Amino acid sequence: MGFLETVLWSVLHARTLLLGAVAFLFFAYVFRKPGPKNMPPGPPRLPILGNLFQLGFKEPHLQIQQVVKKYGNVICMKFGGMYTIFITGLPLIKEALVHQDQHFINRPVLPMQNRIFKGKGIIMSNGQAWKEQRRFTLTTLRNFGLGKKSLEERIQEESYYLVQFIKEENGQPFDPHFKINNAVSNIICSVTFGERFEYQDEKFQEVLRMMDEGMSLLASPWCKLYNMFPRIMELLPGPHQTFFNDWENLKLFVAEMIENHKKDWNPNETRDFIDAYLKEINKHKGDTATSFDEENLIYTTLDLFFAGTETTSATLRWALLYMALYPDIQEKVHAEIDRVIGQMQQPSMALRESMPYTHAVVHEIQRKGNIVPLNVPREVTADTTLAGYNMPKGTFVLTNLTALHFDPAEWATPEKFNPKHFLENGQFKKREDFLPFSIGKRACPGELLARTELFIFFTTLMQKFTFKPPDNEQLTQDFRIGITLAPVKYRICAIPRA
Ligand code: HEM
Ligand SMILES: *[C@@H]1O[C@H](CO)[C@@H](O)[C@H](O)[C@H]1NC(C)=O
Ligand SMILES: *[C@@H]1O[C@H](CO)[C@@H](O)[C@H](O)[C@H]1NC(C)=O
Repeated sequence: MGFLETVLWSVLHARTLLLGAVAFLFFAYVFRKPGPKNMPPGPPRLPILGNLFQLGFKEPHLQIQQVVKKYGNVICMKFGGMYTIFITGLPLIKEALVHQDQHFINRPVLPMQNRIFKGKGIIMSNGQAWKEQRRFTLTTLRNFGLGKKSLEERIQEESYYLVQFIKEENGQPFDPHFKINNAVSNIICSVTFGERFEYQDEKFQEVLRMMDEGMSLLASPWCKLYNMFPRIMELLPGPHQTFFNDWENLKLFVAEMIENHKKDWNPNETRDFIDAYLKEINKHKGDTATSFDEENLIYTTLDLFFAGTETTSATLRWALLYMALYPDIQEKVHAEIDRVIGQMQQPSMALRESMPYTHAVVHEIQRKGNIVPLNVPREVTADTTLAGYNMPKGTFVLTNLTALHFDPAEWATPEKFNPKHFLENGQFKKREDFLPFSIGKRACPGELLARTELFIFFTTLMQKFTFKPPDNEQLTQDFRIGITLAPVKYRICAIPRA
């Protein structure tokens, strides 16, 4: 074949391929399965791919602002074969998560979630198993002093250790990430495992590192690709495999803790969550329908362990950052602490009532930090309607907490860190459009624990230190999206007070 023919042939060939592809997409579009009727409006979709490329990987919670502006408070997009509804605004979020909670109570089960949670635990389970695990967890958390004195004392004691540990930095720049992680994690560890871990404990440091790595990998494009092509991705190397590996190791860590508990288990004496759960398993022996078994013990404990660590830690990392960025606000917090608590007394929840400014600052940290921007996804449990639109069973549902926390109609300066958002005439003021823990029967079961931790850790750190940016280093509010929206790595100086 001559040169010209080769070129002609390959051009023709390329054109044929292209034509074929276009024709295929055209027919796929014309003969596509008709979608469900009367779905909420949304932008036009490509055949097969849907709206896949309209939502980027980097800042998905910001990118569809235009779409919402154009189509309203309930919109529908399609990613691959999956319909996704985005709900904006307090009235509709309440309608879905509170008034119609039975229709929106489930979590969607994507291939990735199925691979790692296997429908077990609390966070990603559904139906009867979810009900049983959640009810048991709430009761047990309560019995171990959630809302009682003992857990508060544990948090006070841990904040003291954290202060000592940060003092060792001598006011020099340091990255507070893993120190805070360790302190926060120790609280949920006391509840679940009945013990805390020393900040020098290398094995526990490795567990925290894996958890942190896993949480950021879970939001990576690789794990998203896994949801689209699970069978292919299962065979391919990549960060998703690192994540699976981390996850197995975390499970092993929890399983080992459980084995240790079984060795010296005494049903007459319940030391912690694992003991209580072992007792519950015994109670249901022979019952084939029960979800209380040792495998579920691992998953439920692991759920509490990571949901109870990363969220609160990310919020406290925002807290230190905002204090260093807004020295005038930090000064007011210091002044209130000096007036109400002084240097000798330990901060406590009872004192919170007399500390409206600090109380407001903690709320503003949660609002502006916005660590769960689109809530944790739900799935329509049974065909229903919302705002006059059909919501077929199986539809993926995201409620936009960002829109709530940054609504210019509700907040005086939504983009600016401003504790006045939660103050009125110098008194603390509750705000309706503030739902960092979500709302309804599936809302965060750790809310009370988290709020106690945030107040006591934050106030103790502020009692003992002034936080400042390192000389010649610029602090930013840049964030990374993993399981939570958290500040990027930063260094800070903790200058001891008094
Ligand atoms: C600042 C800290 C925290 C924030 C902002 C937060 C936020 C959330 C949110 C938004 C949800 C989803 C609720 C929904 O679907 O409506 C959730 C679920 C959950 N959180 Fe938290 N959380 C925090 C701390 C904690 C702590 C300390 C624990 C440990 C006890 C915890 C355990 C859980 C669990 C187990 C779920 C799943 C509940 C279910 O599916 O039934 N969280 N959290
Ligand atoms: C959520 O709300 C924010 C703030 O209004 C907006 O920028 C973003 O596009 C919304 N995202 C989704 C997914 O609805
Ligand atoms: C638990 O209590 C029961 C009844 O009081 C007693 O018979 C049993 O020996 C106790 N078990 C242990 C391991 O202490």
